[in-house]
Amino acid sequence: MSRPTVHLPRLIAHRGLSAHAPENTLTAVRAAHAEGCGWVELDVQLLGDGTPVIWHDKGVRRCSNGRGKLANMELPRARALDVGAWFGRNFAGERLATLDEMLALADELGLGLNLELKVHRGRDPQALVATALPRALDALPPERLIVSSFHPEALEAARALQPAGDALHLGILHEKPPKEWRRSAEALKAFSLHVDWRRLKEKRAREIKAAGYALLCYTPNDPVAFATQWDWGVDSAISDDPGLFTHYLPEAEPPDGAGTVIVR
Ligand code: G3P
Ligand code: MG
Repeated sequence: MSRPTVHLPRLIAHRGLSAHAPENTLTAVRAAHAEGCGWVELDVQLLGDGTPVIWHDKGVRRCSNGRGKLANMELPRARALDVGAWFGRNFAGERLATLDEMLALADELGLGLNLELKVHRGRDPQALVATALPRALDALPPERLIVSSFHPEALEAARALQPAGDALHLGILHEKPPKEWRRSAEALKAFSLHVDWRRLKEKRAREIKAAGYALLCYTPNDPVAFATQWDWGVDSAISDDPGLFTHYLPEAEPPDGAGTVIVR
């Protein structure tokens, strides 16, 4: 496995500061930065015309004023959507962000990025990696980028494109890490495992940490309920509302380095 060079913060803002701004938007990322978050998690996928954009769902219905699948949409149509008004009147007029715009913003703000390669059923993981990964690697230094995915083929393609463990920190997403979690972690030279915090068991958490991997949990929003997971050695929580955790963080920083985020 790669030696960790990422200085993980305790808290990562999930889809930007998605409790307080429309998820996966430039505004949500600015809001995370304004709250004191040093890292954000964002989802990337391709439009039908091949443009990489920051978006979670397969379609646009939940988070915009339009309808349709990303796979059937070209950039002008996607850009005509209002992706803020669904969340609140103050956010009306927000436009769907391209990956390039988001990377430029992360660079400008000095943010770390956990970029999730989101592969919905029927979409091509290879095309997503071939398009999105070189842009991300160009835009951000390796210590401020983790590329993660649930999709094994996307992770394999990413590693094939950048074989050096230290040049690309890969995160494997699991709802629940399987017994044989090590196999893929070793094969992919993974940096981290990202696990649904409600499905993580102490034994598995301690095993992952003892093997030298970073361990991140998504998506806790209750800092009291999450206290036990810190005790198990979890490095970072990917939360919609990191500010809730301010007074509930372990005193020690994540073991692989400095950089605990102070969320005001
Ligand atoms: O990357 C962690 C988390 O975002 C995975 O689930 O559905 O929120 O993308 P989802
Ligand atoms: Mg995600």
